[in-house]
Amino acid sequence: MRQMLMHQMLPVILLVLLTASQVICWRPWPHLKPNSSDLIFGGSKKFEGSSEFVHMKYHMGPVLTANITVHTIWYGTWQPAQKRIIREFINSISAVDSKHPSVAGWWKTVQLYTDQTGANISRSVRLGKEKNDRFYSHGKSLTRLSIQSVIKSAVTARTKPLPTNPKSGLYLLLTSADVYVQDFCGQVCGFHYFTFPSIVGYTLPYAWVGNSAKLCPGVCAYPFAVPEYVPGLKPLKSPNADAGVDGMISVIGHEIAELATNPLVNAWYAGQDPVAPVEIADLCEGIYGTGGGGSYTGQLLNDRDGATYNMNGIRRRYLVQWVWNHVVNYCTGPNALDQ
Ligand SMILES: *[C@@H]1O[C@H](CO)[C@@H](O)[C@H](O)[C@H]1NC(C)=O
Ligand SMILES: *[C@@H]1O[C@H](CO)[C@@H](O)[C@H](O)[C@H]1NC(C)=O
Ligand SMILES: *[C@@H]1O[C@H](CO)[C@@H](O)[C@H](O)[C@H]1NC(C)=O
Repeated sequence: MRQMLMHQMLPVILLVLLTASQVICWRPWPHLKPNSSDLIFGGSKKFEGSSEFVHMKYHMGPVLTANITVHTIWYGTWQPAQKRIIREFINSISAVDSKHPSVAGWWKTVQLYTDQTGANISRSVRLGKEKNDRFYSHGKSLTRLSIQSVIKSAVTARTKPLPTNPKSGLYLLLTSADVYVQDFCGQVCGFHYFTFPSIVGYTLPYAWVGNSAKLCPGVCAYPFAVPEYVPGLKPLKSPNADAGVDGMISVIGHEIAELATNPLVNAWYAGQDPVAPVEIADLCEGIYGTGGGGSYTGQLLNDRDGATYNMNGIRRRYLVQWVWNHVVNYCTGPNALDQ
């Protein structure tokens, strides 16, 4: 969950820093600005977040073991080409025929997590229904609570409401580049939680991810955009020619992985504090390949046309962060060089 602040993660970060001298959860957040030279000179280039001090623990709550359906709410103004990039990413998660390294291979790490009965996270993730909220029903500045009202509007709409499916449905609210959401850019690029029955009428696991193209691409679409405060650092070319949306893909992957393993925030997380859980994608933020850590992304792949990616989807390529593997106790991904 990206809603935790850096200071809430300090105990974990300090432990990791003390042992491996690297920062986990890395993004060029504004508060890191004074140390921007780290960006140019690179951080630690080993270990992919490995640490004997990370104890990813199961807290007995449910995880998503039934076939997962992702219901999407497109809030604001979305181009058909942008929607296709995102839909194809979600469809790629359980695709059987993508080229290695694949998005489906990335999901295998998530499938390693189980519930009390030993049932694994579902292998099947598919797109469900979609709802367009073209006219910004709750304005262009949303709070964490008004996000729940947007979801309520979608599941209670008079025409074609989204189905309510608390056991295996995920609700993905995507806001267009002209929408601000509480804490966007400063502390979060996306987050997940569950809806309150008092507001929405149901407890539904949901995630919000915003298109940062206008507000903070250098933070939330990094490394396809770079912060202005780092002179000389060049953005990488994004694989689907839309830096904002290509940057959202990794955040969407982050949130779906955490929703699957911690949908009600009482299942898989590290740390003592359920208010600030450190979840399976938090531990690997900014790590996309072998050697990743600190501000170094790790070994990536390059398209013939110079775009950077690390995994193949059905028809497209994507750059998606790795996730924590509790079996080996480090971050893993399909493009690891030592597999
Ligand atoms: C920046 O680096 C200095 C020296 O390494 C350190 O004391 C300071 O806490 C760092 N600031 C941030 C925001 O990490
Ligand atoms: C779950 O998905 C798999 C493959 O995607 C399918 O074969 C199976 O019938 C689905 N199960 C249910 C209960 O829908
Ligand atoms: C299910 O989880 C267990 C424990 O992590 C793992 O050993 C097994 O390989 C997983 N099964 C699948 C299909 O991922």
